[in-house]
Amino acid sequence: MIENFKGTHILHGNQFAKEDLDKVMQVADEFEKGLKNGETYDLMRGKVLAALFFEPSTRTRLSFESAMLRLGGGVISVASAATSSAAKGESIADTALTVSQYADVIVMRHPQIGSAAEAAEVAKIPVINAGDGAGQHPTQALLDVHTIKKEIDKLDGIQVSLVGDLKYGRTVHALVELLSLYDIGLRLVSPASLKMPTDMVSNLKEKGVDVVETENLPEAVAGSDLLYVTRIQKERFSDVAEYEKLKGAYVVDNAMLQKAKEGIVIMHPLPRVDEITTEVDSYKGAAYFRQVRNGVFVRMALLAVVSGLK
Ligand code: NCD
Repeated sequence: MIENFKGTHILHGNQFAKEDLDKVMQVADEFEKGLKNGETYDLMRGKVLAALFFEPSTRTRLSFESAMLRLGGGVISVASAATSSAAKGESIADTALTVSQYADVIVMRHPQIGSAAEAAEVAKIPVINAGDGAGQHPTQALLDVHTIKKEIDKLDGIQVSLVGDLKYGRTVHALVELLSLYDIGLRLVSPASLKMPTDMVSNLKEKGVDVVETENLPEAVAGSDLLYVTRIQKERFSDVAEYEKLKGAYVVDNAMLQKAKEGIVIMHPLPRVDEITTEVDSYKGAAYFRQVRNGVFVRMALLAVVSGLK
């Protein structure tokens, strides 16, 4: 358990205990209620967030920026590797040391696994991992768990299916770490070549999670309380032909949902390509845009707790 979040780097899904998630979710709820009631915040007035995005992003960067602005703080950002000194060959460590002089919190996305941890080693301020290549994406996992709790009302006792690119998908890599804290049945649904790395699966089993690996999506739909769909990630394939072969592997549409378990909730970290058809957007369990909204509250909470303000 994290006794005091102040100054803590947020790097990996495995760093949290259940109590930590409760804390973040409780602060997120508080901000959500406040904003709904028209409250404005100056908790982070005078503080600066550096958003360093060396890989494409829409939601993660903008929701962090929105969160910081809603807390009364300011934002400086790098929106692509091409426009920063990374393009000149500057190391992650030098970048982190430099940005530590300008900001109070760093949020960083980078194509390399372990990059955020590398920055955290030298940074003088908290570093939040917003995605390190095919590694981890802990803030997405936190907002995902928060969304599950809001949508289903509980975490224990539910059946969850993770669908799609489980090999390279950093959102699911982080999410399973958090889900393993609860009594959850986990189905890992992917094409054989995109299975979750074996060390992660054995780690889950060691923790006592009931894990089933399968390629059968319809069966998962019929037996799950939550379907968490992910994109097949073109940018992670070295062989484009391999991507082309797999890209249409799983598509969730209304026809498939006719056989779904009553009350099924569908989530997706987004962006989607074609793995959930747009007709599903009006399905009552389609929660992915509510999930997007929860991202702002959870990221407000994270910024506040790592700054020692909540
Ligand atoms: C994901 C990511 O970047 O890992 N998006 C996100 O942060 N919400 C998923 C993806 O790119 O497919």
